[in-house]
Amino acid sequence: MRQTLVAGNWKMNGSLESIKQLVAGITAGAADSGDTAIAVCPPFVYIPLVSELLAGSKIALGSQDNSDQEAGAFTGEISCSMLNDFGCRYAIVGHSERRALYGEDDDFTARKFAAARKAGLTPILCVGESLEEREQGITEDVVARQLDAVIKLEGIAAIADAVIAYEPVWAIGTGKTASPRQAQDVHAFIRGKLAGLDQGVADKVQILYGGSVKGSNAKELFSMQDIDGGLIGGASLAADDFLAICTAGN
Ligand code: 13P
Repeated sequence: MRQTLVAGNWKMNGSLESIKQLVAGITAGAADSGDTAIAVCPPFVYIPLVSELLAGSKIALGSQDNSDQEAGAFTGEISCSMLNDFGCRYAIVGHSERRALYGEDDDFTARKFAAARKAGLTPILCVGESLEEREQGITEDVVARQLDAVIKLEGIAAIADAVIAYEPVWAIGTGKTASPRQAQDVHAFIRGKLAGLDQGVADKVQILYGGSVKGSNAKELFSMQDIDGGLIGGASLAADDFLAICTAGN
């Protein structure tokens, strides 16, 4: 049985004050979320603060991105060892906003995945198609290509140490959620593809759904066979909304 994981991706939102309040709200309610594992991924500058505020709670910390390099002259970058210094457990790589807005391609994402894994972080590898790609009927090709770049660089066994997040780009921040059936179909495709290479890896890896998940649709999404939780954007910015999703994971 795979444990349900609900991870909040705060993106570039929040302030010192609002983040203190958000973490206080989430930690106060997290005990009621049963067996569901919870993680939050703040903007880099708030990671030290959130790390301190989460001490002693069941909530894990993650980053929204990481450098593919270990150290050196890479202005503006954050290395995985820095993330380790503040107790990060997860590292989101290949989010569609990184891919679309900052030109990060499959190979670069694979190198970030490799760097995170080498440092002992659990990469949350984001994959997903645009609306245009869905309409062209190439969703599976796109997702397969995104996965293959990582498998080619790191090998199939590496996927066992990771989390995959299927986030259809057309459902992110749009209020348009993939239906549980649409999401399940892609999750089943991903697991089936992995099973073709290594059944053990396919059985073990958590595959999260992301894209306009809310308290009102989380239960139905998470009840699908191959959906093991969610990567939450907008609804992770209010403690009550986020906790409602965490509770739906039970
Ligand atoms: P929304 O939940 O705001 O649609 O964002 C999803 C997402 O991109 C999480 O990484």
